[in-house]
Amino acid sequence: MLANGKQDLEWQKLGFEYTKTDYRFSAIYENGAWSEGDLTDSEIIQIHEGAPALHYAQQCFEGLKAQTAEDGRVLLFRPELNAQRMAITAERLSMPAVPKELFLRGVERAVQANHSWIPPYGSGASLYIRPLLIGIGENMGLKPAKSYEFRVMVSPVGPYYKSGGLALISLAVSDIDRAAPHGTGDVKAGANYPVGLYATRKAKELGANEALYLDAAEHRYLEEAGSANIIIAQADNKLITPKSDAILPSVTRRSIMTIAEQELGMQVEERAIDLRAEIDSFLEVGACGTAAVLSPVGKIWLDEHWHTFYGNGEQVGPVMQKLYDMLCQLQCGEREDRFNWIHEVKI
Ligand code: PLP
Ligand code: COI
Repeated sequence: MLANGKQDLEWQKLGFEYTKTDYRFSAIYENGAWSEGDLTDSEIIQIHEGAPALHYAQQCFEGLKAQTAEDGRVLLFRPELNAQRMAITAERLSMPAVPKELFLRGVERAVQANHSWIPPYGSGASLYIRPLLIGIGENMGLKPAKSYEFRVMVSPVGPYYKSGGLALISLAVSDIDRAAPHGTGDVKAGANYPVGLYATRKAKELGANEALYLDAAEHRYLEEAGSANIIIAQADNKLITPKSDAILPSVTRRSIMTIAEQELGMQVEERAIDLRAEIDSFLEVGACGTAAVLSPVGKIWLDEHWHTFYGNGEQVGPVMQKLYDMLCQLQCGEREDRFNWIHEVKI
């Protein structure tokens, strides 16, 4: 630990990797009620070998970040939307919802207890917060767990894509389906992700950073990337994003659409996007999410060839640059919080 109370880390060099921090928050659900919850210093979870989280993927998670503002305040971005999404996910997976008060308290306590690991202002890094809800009770048949753990772990992280900062990424349209139309695509179930490991491996073989999914029914409409929603700038100041019941309602995407409409006067639309019919009208494309922030997409692999966007796919376009700047300024307290999105954690 350094004299300024921070860990001796090269913050600028961090990637999106796990770094062990000092504490995590844990609460247990048993006999129909949640415990108060407390901090623990063990990063190991011991659960029963019959736990439904292990056999039947009765598990879900969330992701959000804490940033340090220039004046040293520690800021979360719309954490109540993560609490709400985890409650919706829990309901879909027959798990008890984590009450909003417990969710926010768990997040705050994990952040406060690990303040030395929160990257400093201007380092380009942030503290990634990963709330988890898992079915831990003994079980065999296909039925919900009897007990659950809600855990919040944190880790300092840098950029999600290796390219880093606002560098361009590329996506490859996958033949694989991420989620079924009326399944779990719109909730944050861990079970949605392992198929993406395969799809992303295939995408990487083509030189792309990640897989891009089309709708499972027709393989026609654009859905989302493996870890991020998609936004597209078109002519006439339009910003469009796919409408689908099978994609995750990204907090970042919803925020960007609001900024685009209310601060930049853009015409925003959430609608079905027929990829092959419309790709030539895409001026700029971005992948957005907590981990991805807003990563401009230079090119997309579709039907055996690359489709490039702004600047021949080699430059960040003005719309994505502007939206990225505005989002980051808001998240780290450099811009007036006119939408009341910032939640300060008292350290
Ligand atoms: N889509 C998927 C599949 C994700 O895993 C994520 C990450 O959370 C997102 C989109 C972005 O959502 P958010 O902006 O809420 O982090
Ligand atoms: C996030 O952006 O918070 C996510 O959960 C995406 C994950 C695949 C890293």
